[in-house]
Amino acid sequence: MAASIVKRVSRVKKLNISHISARYKLLTGFRHFSTSKQWNKALVLGVYENESTDSIDFTGTARKFDEKADGKISQLLLTVKKPLKCGKTRTLHAVDPEFSSVLVTCIGKRGEGYDELETVDKGRESIRAAVAKAVLQLRELGENEIEVDSCGDTEASAEGCHLALFSYDDLKAEKSRKPTVRISCATRYSQDKNSMEKEWRKGAILAEGQNLSRRLMEMPANLLTPTKFAEIIKEQLADKCEVLVRDKDWAESMKMGSFLSVARGSVEPPVFLEIEYKGRQSDSPLALVGKGVTFDTGGISIKPSQGMDAMRGDMGGAACVAGSLLSVSKLQLPVHVKAFIPLCENMPSGSATKPGDVVTAMNGKTIQVDNTDAEGRLILADALCYSEQFNPSLILDMATLTGAIDVALGAGAAGVFTNSENMWNKLQKASVRSGDRVWRMPLFNHYTKKITECQLADLNNIGGSRSGGACTAAAFLKEFVNNKNWLHLDIAGVMSNSGDVAYLGKGMSGRPTRTVIEFINLMSKETNN
Ligand code: BES
Ligand code: ZN
Ligand code: ZN
Repeated sequence: MAASIVKRVSRVKKLNISHISARYKLLTGFRHFSTSKQWNKALVLGVYENESTDSIDFTGTARKFDEKADGKISQLLLTVKKPLKCGKTRTLHAVDPEFSSVLVTCIGKRGEGYDELETVDKGRESIRAAVAKAVLQLRELGENEIEVDSCGDTEASAEGCHLALFSYDDLKAEKSRKPTVRISCATRYSQDKNSMEKEWRKGAILAEGQNLSRRLMEMPANLLTPTKFAEIIKEQLADKCEVLVRDKDWAESMKMGSFLSVARGSVEPPVFLEIEYKGRQSDSPLALVGKGVTFDTGGISIKPSQGMDAMRGDMGGAACVAGSLLSVSKLQLPVHVKAFIPLCENMPSGSATKPGDVVTAMNGKTIQVDNTDAEGRLILADALCYSEQFNPSLILDMATLTGAIDVALGAGAAGVFTNSENMWNKLQKASVRSGDRVWRMPLFNHYTKKITECQLADLNNIGGSRSGGACTAAAFLKEFVNNKNWLHLDIAGVMSNSGDVAYLGKGMSGRPTRTVIEFINLMSKETNN
């Protein structure tokens, strides 16, 4: 079936880690399915929440399947008195010769849509969560070929199951890895199979982009160095995008003193990635910028050791840019995008930047580096300046920038700082579709004052006090942007998932990749991008 996705093959296909041991190489190289594999088929059906104890409110697909099975599904469901609640499931066996399991999952109340207070489309979110739970339960049962009900929103259904089945176990022994599962859309009763397959493919590609972001973020920093990041991006994107890998000498020639001041503490060479996707001819591309700190120790202002392993995900901005580009190019959106990704490690060493050092950014502004742990803004400063040279119609940057945004918003939403009401409205609209939320934060002069009060230089890289830390970081970035359509997304709070999003497993989240893809999709409908 065209829409069926072989999860593990697509997942590991190109992430070949060549520079490490043969064992790891084996673990991450190509794997092929044997044609003799035994496929155990299962079906996921959706039902709406319904108080009645003598009728079931099926989705269209589920109703037709029940009719075909002479009402067996409804009979079995009604044998127990308690109606299914949103997010709950029932698994039925031996109800159909084709499927060893038929799992019924409750997708909430019929007709649920946009919830203003929650700023989310509840109907779509419930579908994602319900099918996610369903496919995971079926995988536990050993089912490995699953047909999934579109549940009235094929794209959301595809997103939910493709996101749920992701797990980063490339580095584990075969027996410890999650089994391979093939998923496809249950189109058999649809009037318009083609458009359903198309929607399913779109949802799968959206999830694939986010899953690439997750995998990159999860990869340990000894394997995912700046050089390796660039290699993987070339493998993943080079067939649809132009990928330029710039080295330290290039960055020096561009006078990126701020970026290089972070990189200098590490033996790993920095890389500046420039990626172009030209789905349309235009002189004003949409610019994406991503923080790519492949490991953040804090530098000389070193972080506490507890939980420091999470700082392998400090290239989350870069990963989300890459994930977005993968999906945008696979969807062949008619849009011109240029991406700019500064990559380096932030390490303490004899050659590292010291607190109080003064460095000069590409635009000539001098920066007193009072805290070497506020390194994200230093590498973004030069990347933002550089991106301005390409006459972008908008600049969107993503960065795991501050612990303060996590204090403010937690994993509830990515913090958005923007100088454009119009851009904000578009991004918010995109996030309602994706279910991956954003929340607007201020860019007041109040915060600018905190970073321009500086003893030795034009700017200080920290705001003096801890108060409003995400806002002072954004105010710092603002000093390097002239574009009237700038959005800065502080994604530190949404970097990892610890159960908050039901359809994402625990670990690095890849958020807000799908929101950004939807945003680019919206922008592609405007004339000049
Ligand atoms: N990479 C961190 C921010 C971060 C924190 C990301 C938690 C993900 C989870 C960033 O480089 C950092 O260390 N920021 C400092 C800034 C401070 C020194 C002004 C912070 O937030 O503490
Ligand atoms: Zn830091
Ligand atoms: Zn950092």
